[in-house]
Amino acid sequence: MNSKIAGLGYYVPENVVTNNDLTQYMDTSDEWIQERTGIQERRYASKHSESTTSMAKFASEIAIERAGISKEDIDFIIFATLSPDYYFPGCGVLLQRELGITKTEIGALDIRNQCSGFVYGLSVADQFIKSGMYKNILLVGSEKHSMGLDYTTRGRNVTVIFGDGAGAAVIQPEEDDSKGILTTHLHSDGTHAEELAFISPGAHGGYFGDTEKYGFPGEDTPGGLFVTQKMMDEGMIFPNMNGQLVFKNAVVRFARVIKEALAKTGLSGDEISLLVPHQANLRISQFVQKSFGLRDDQVYNNIQKYGNTTAASIPIALTEAWEEGKVNEGDLVCLAAFGSGFTWGSALIRW
Ligand SMILES: CC(C)(COP(=O)(O)OP(=O)(O)OC[C@H]1O[C@@H](n2cnc3c(N)ncnc32)[C@H](O)[C@@H]1OP(=O)(O)O)[C@@H](O)C(=O)NCCC(=O)NCCS
Repeated sequence: MNSKIAGLGYYVPENVVTNNDLTQYMDTSDEWIQERTGIQERRYASKHSESTTSMAKFASEIAIERAGISKEDIDFIIFATLSPDYYFPGCGVLLQRELGITKTEIGALDIRNQCSGFVYGLSVADQFIKSGMYKNILLVGSEKHSMGLDYTTRGRNVTVIFGDGAGAAVIQPEEDDSKGILTTHLHSDGTHAEELAFISPGAHGGYFGDTEKYGFPGEDTPGGLFVTQKMMDEGMIFPNMNGQLVFKNAVVRFARVIKEALAKTGLSGDEISLLVPHQANLRISQFVQKSFGLRDDQVYNNIQKYGNTTAASIPIALTEAWEEGKVNEGDLVCLAAFGSGFTWGSALIRW
């Protein structure tokens, strides 16, 4: 038995933030951002009335309806995010509560794999469905990045890239083994973990590097503190990224993990009906497209409108593509992601 995506949904906040809007806060320009990333605008959630979970709820409700089931039929939740509402508990249980399905006491799993979170979650869901353990898994990727970015010039290389949004999928069994999720491939390499990271607040206490740099967390307390004044003053409470290193690793690993999926299934690149790459950067997607010789209509990109929405980017893009009639029965859909960790993965789906 295979598993399949039976319903898709997405939600993006109404508030559009253009590249020009960002120039009010930092030294950047529409030209620089578009040239390097392809991004024209992104969405920012309302500070107080929207959260990672609330966006996930809207996306989930659409996916559940399209799958032709009710909320009570969901038997497991998988939630991928790097911007959870709380440090703990994770967003999985919050989503369960917001959807009003606590009576069934189903399991909820949180995935912390950043940009590859949705592909990792899809692979986990696929294994659970194949083993017969669950029949209606709700898989969500949602991010509210806007609340954790450095809006000064110091943070411009990261801040201009990211946006908010959520995407959801319902995963169900597929009796026809020539259809559904054909294969998934997951990889990681922690060598460069700190090169694309949100390091503090965290419990590292400087263990992995220069303690001085991270500000001797909480000298006056027996155990230390997640956040210190020094961390706040020096902007250590924001994500950091070595853009060039990420770029170089991304282009190689995107291509390699797509090839791996094709080799496993005996299919070739030109048989891909639609590649939906994680929307990291339009230049990365174009590089991958070129390396497989794919036409423009074989690759779906929407980073221009939403920026990089990390775990939400693939389900948002896949849902939009499906809504636009670009994903049809019999199509071979390829998902691929690369991001912080580094972690990366791919999935091939016969729709
Ligand atoms: C982030 C990225 C666009 C930066 O492009 P780049 O060509 O590598 O740029 P660099 O970081 O080398 O910086 C070049 C210059 O632009 C400046 N710069 C950085 N961000 C800027 C911004 N938003 N606006 C204007 N200038 C900026 C830098 O300060 C630097 O200036 P300097 O030469 O005076 O020191 C690019 O590295 C990239 O796309 N990397 C992959 C990122 C990614 O996909 N992340 C998500 C992974 S899931």
